Amino acid sequence: MTYMVIAVVAPVLVVGAVATAAIAYLRRSHRQRLSAAHRRLHHHHNSHHHHHNHHSLGGGDTTLREYLDHTLTSGSGSGLPLLIQRTLAKQISLVECIGKGRYGEVWCGIWHGEKVAVKIFFSRDEASWTRETEIYSTVLLRHENILGYIGSDMTSHNSCTQLWLITHYHDHGSLYDHLNRTTLTHASMLRLAVSMMNGIVHLHTEIFGTQGKPAIAHRDIKSKNILVKANGTCVIADFGLAVTHIQSTGQTLVAPNPRVGTKRYMSPEVLDETLDMNCFEALRRVDMYAVGLVLWELGRRVVSNGIVEEYQPPFYDRVPSDPSFEDMRKIVCVDQQRPMLPNRWSSDPVLSGSGKIMRECWHHNANARLPALRVKKTLIKLASEHKIQ
Ligand SMILES: Nc1ncnc2c1ncn2[C@@H]1O[C@H](COP(=O)(O)OP(=O)(O)OP(=O)(O)O)[C@@H](O)[C@H]1O
Ligand SMILES: [Mg+2]
Repeated sequence: MTYMVIAVVAPVLVVGAVATAAIAYLRRSHRQRLSAAHRRLHHHHNSHHHHHNHHSLGGGDTTLREYLDHTLTSGSGSGLPLLIQRTLAKQISLVECIGKGRYGEVWCGIWHGEKVAVKIFFSRDEASWTRETEIYSTVLLRHENILGYIGSDMTSHNSCTQLWLITHYHDHGSLYDHLNRTTLTHASMLRLAVSMMNGIVHLHTEIFGTQGKPAIAHRDIKSKNILVKANGTCVIADFGLAVTHIQSTGQTLVAPNPRVGTKRYMSPEVLDETLDMNCFEALRRVDMYAVGLVLWELGRRVVSNGIVEEYQPPFYDRVPSDPSFEDMRKIVCVDQQRPMLPNRWSSDPVLSGSGKIMRECWHHNANARLPALRVKKTLIKLASEHKIQ
């Protein structure tokens, strides 16, 4: 009898002990990976912005003190303090997947009874998560036309690292989604366009002083990276490729990221590889080229004299659906083609005025392109001249 009990119980105990040890080992190595990644992120921060406040990077887990230090020094950032962010993911329940991009998925979630958007990055795109988290947490980006940031989190799911970016949620989705669904009036088009420019002007402009911000070039402007708020204005989203610039140091900081912008929206100088990545002004002009294309997407959806064009992405009639770099280079650089302005626009003063702005944004010569503030002012002028809004 005793023998029987030992024969049954002993193997169970042994298997249980081995399993416990294995789980403990896996959890420990996973924790080490997470904290190493956290440290990499913080180190990256510090080397850019907080030289005076080096955290110990010597190994072991990130200490509470480091988090406190960081929380104190990152007071200028836009998200929640990091200590609070640590537990963010645990407080969010994911409701449904609302979008899939090349670099991850976007979910609608509930946080403290409020809808939030959770962007879950594939781990191979850690660089974009790091960059976006860094931009949002070191720069004062709170602006009515910039997507509102709540926090970032790095969690584990079945022993696999998950990178989360939590932001405000916008029911209307992206400008791309919105334009596919609805047509526009002159007023609603100008409202979208002016607010988009307002966001881009804020990004592109350096603000001096303690409450200031560096100038930021976005580098992936397109209708899918602009979201539409319930009040019919836009916010700019997706800072995974953003580059900052501070005039006094003359320094342009390009974070290492294998990702490049979206081919369809690439400017001639990006496509023929003559762009000087160290010249910040050149990066602003790359954004303005893409702005021209987005304005064209908007214009087509404006109803005038009962006519409207269907939604189409730029160059829909010249390149295949997932164009290659070569496809784009041929039509944009070699043939120097640009989207066609529909004939009916010429008899509509607002659309022909917008068309003129588009041409000055997508000029082959980058130096001839309009700066964001000029585009914003010209759009406002168009609205007031035609007594719109
Ligand atoms: N904050 C948000 N609120 C509501 N919907 C959002 C939000 N962020 C993203 N979305 C939706 O999720 C989709 C996917 O976004 P994501 O940035 O992952 O990819 P994308 O920009 O569409 O494509 P790409 O991978 O080429 O950048 C968006 O097109 C949009 O419809
Ligand atoms: Mg995007």
